[in-house]
Amino acid sequence: MPARSKRLDMIPPYLFAEISRVKAEAIASGADIIDLGIGDPDLPTPQPVIDALLRAANDPSTHRYDETPRGWVSFLEAAAEWYAKEFGVQLDPANDFVQLIGSKEGLAHLAWTYIDPGDISIVPNPGYTVYKVNTLMAGGEVYETPLLTENGFLPVLEDIPSDVAKRAKLFYVCYPHNPTGATATKEFYEDAVKFCKDHDILLVNDMAYATVAYDGYTNPTVMQVEGGKDVAIEFHSLSKMYNMTGWRLGFALGNTEAVNNLQRLKSNIDSKQFPAIAEAGAYALRSVDNSHTIAMYQRRRDILCDGLNSIGWKVTKPKSAFYVWSRVPNPSMTSAEFCKELLQRAHIVAIPGNGYGTNGEGWVRMSLTLAGDTDGERFNEAVRRIAASGLIPSSV
Ligand SMILES: Cc1ncc(COP(=O)(O)O)c(C=O)c1O
Repeated sequence: MPARSKRLDMIPPYLFAEISRVKAEAIASGADIIDLGIGDPDLPTPQPVIDALLRAANDPSTHRYDETPRGWVSFLEAAAEWYAKEFGVQLDPANDFVQLIGSKEGLAHLAWTYIDPGDISIVPNPGYTVYKVNTLMAGGEVYETPLLTENGFLPVLEDIPSDVAKRAKLFYVCYPHNPTGATATKEFYEDAVKFCKDHDILLVNDMAYATVAYDGYTNPTVMQVEGGKDVAIEFHSLSKMYNMTGWRLGFALGNTEAVNNLQRLKSNIDSKQFPAIAEAGAYALRSVDNSHTIAMYQRRRDILCDGLNSIGWKVTKPKSAFYVWSRVPNPSMTSAEFCKELLQRAHIVAIPGNGYGTNGEGWVRMSLTLAGDTDGERFNEAVRRIAASGLIPSSV
């Protein structure tokens, strides 16, 4: 066999190998695991969306290649209607949108669309690793903006060195943020738009969790800001919004040139999805109200956060996304050590924060998606087990 490309060696080692090993051992010994690791909606896709897929699959016009330039027309039209309704911004479905095989695919391919050797992507630390890995594989470099609690987990634009800003082509931001659950303000987007305009950078806003929000909170978007469309492309996903992670459907919108460039790369790599999936996605965007799922995450969030706070582990309730991001309660432990102990003593899986970057060290991420939980009872059980584990120093 020939050697794999050097590019593949840029993919960092799997950081959760030890946790996976301990988890496999616990499962093999019959332990009742509460897995707060993966962020994947546990409720099924709403039945009307499945029905729409069945109807579309029975229509032979969906059985052939989708030869449109940017995506299945009714899907892109539905995406534009949804965006206008949700965020009050009217964009052109024929020119300002491109269909994606999930937003991960688009975020990855955007790096390949823009980055040459010597170019920089500014990426969040901690953050979703896709931005960094694909920039590196495309031959570029990354500058990691520290997201710190004292700045509300927003990058401090003045701290970005001017030589970095000069060489940067992409500035990835993600709000609501994975893993911290932080949200952006309109003022932040205004500043980021100005920064990107001044330095000729494409602002990339990952909004995979755009509509997962609690207590009536709604997320702002960069397209709501004056000049946003001049400098930004925004990524949306049906995955978390409609419990459709397995369907692989998302879209990017915004700056027409950026959308065109992304579609130009994609048209040489993929031929889009089965059009029936896009048709069902259009139905979801137009007709499905998934508020009962959001309400369930909110109940789970309250049970977990109130419960942990009551036993001495001080955690903050996220306004959006479905992650609780919290400091390791025992300061003598690293994130990985704590998560390993949590798994061994309480049979609870949580993700060590350093998996999302160096600034995640000392933190842990717990997801509010949990298969097998019907209305929060497993989160009550998680709190009970953590209290009994002896892992929370009484002084915390
Ligand atoms: C921040 C962030 N962006 C994008 C994605 C990708 O979502 P999808 O490819 O399912 O649309 C995820 C998935 O977990 C994510 O956490």
